[in-house]
Amino acid sequence: MMSKTAAGESATQKGALSHSEQHYFDSYDHYGIHEEMLQDSVRTLSYRNAIVQNKHLFKDKIVLDVGCGTGILSMFAAKNGAKHVIGVDMSSIIEMAREIVELNGFSDKITLLRGKLEDVELPFPKVDIIISEWMGYFLLYESMLDTVLYARDHYLVEGGLIFPDKCSLHIAGLEDAQYKDEKINYWHDVYGFDYSPFIPLVMQEPIVDTVQGNVVNTTRCQLIEFDLNTVQLSDLSFKAKFEVEAKRQDWINGLIAWFDIVFPAPEGKIPVGFSTGAHSPYTHWKQTVFYLKENLEAETGDVLRGELTCAPNKRHNRDLDIKITYDFEAKGIDAARRSKSGEDTFIMR
Ligand SMILES: C[S@@+](CC[C@H](N)C(=O)[O-])C[C@H]1O[C@@H](n2cnc3c(N)ncnc32)[C@H](O)[C@@H]1O
Repeated sequence: MMSKTAAGESATQKGALSHSEQHYFDSYDHYGIHEEMLQDSVRTLSYRNAIVQNKHLFKDKIVLDVGCGTGILSMFAAKNGAKHVIGVDMSSIIEMAREIVELNGFSDKITLLRGKLEDVELPFPKVDIIISEWMGYFLLYESMLDTVLYARDHYLVEGGLIFPDKCSLHIAGLEDAQYKDEKINYWHDVYGFDYSPFIPLVMQEPIVDTVQGNVVNTTRCQLIEFDLNTVQLSDLSFKAKFEVEAKRQDWINGLIAWFDIVFPAPEGKIPVGFSTGAHSPYTHWKQTVFYLKENLEAETGDVLRGELTCAPNKRHNRDLDIKITYDFEAKGIDAARRSKSGEDTFIMR
């Protein structure tokens, strides 16, 4: 434990971490991933706008930036009146953050600590505000929210603020027959050989990709909302019901999921927020697609009801086990033929 980590030092010895943890932090060493995040202007400007909108709350406050990366959020907070910002990151990118913070004249306002947030000792016993960009694909992949909750429970003053503080997962049906067929049929004939045993493996991995808004062919449904002020670690393993309605006569080949983010706002003001849905501008989180084993033949107004179960994988905590069960209730004269029930399991890794 140390209250300050000098350049090149870390409060966490990397060798003591599991291989998967080392791999996780290594993935943030390279500048490329940070370039992608910084260039995601929906993401980065939302943080800046939310801080600017709440300048009066940041004024003279102690701020903790959980997983500071290149230090961008720390600098937004320092520039907008924070008395002091503590940026913590386990990855070696923090050495670049040191250079950047100094280059931009914030060395006396920002203290950077290298190590896992769970291991470092902060120079202040409590902080007034936590800022963090912790969201993974399908919101919870990477399990970094666990670290934000740890920071909240150990360091946030009573009544302190978390930026952002509300997030929600959403789901809808989509038509994507061509891509789904290509992805599956490929394995039936690989240079003349039958590789079909790969198909169940391919099907169980959700696909992270950009989806055109017009292939979403049902109404949307919010699966779950988390309030970061109160959510507990155990709430991140959840079971949520959904119900969507077909908007046209079309195939439903799978389900598309995305998340929305909301920041605290001053009384009477519209909060800053953004959506990662197919109906919204591009973000690097794209959308997550779950192909169903069965294709559903939908007519306008048919109802797809189901339940999605999500939990961190027992062996690899940062992976997600997801199960979708559903009842598709078709209407009309051929309702019996088209109605279907199913269960599909997925793993995000
Ligand atoms: C999604 S990036 C965000 C970087 C930066 N805040 C930004 O907005 O550009 C998350 C960062 O959190 C760091 N991180 C994740 N878990 C951490 C932990 N438990 N302790 C310290 N750093 C962590 C990663 O190394 C990574 O640099």
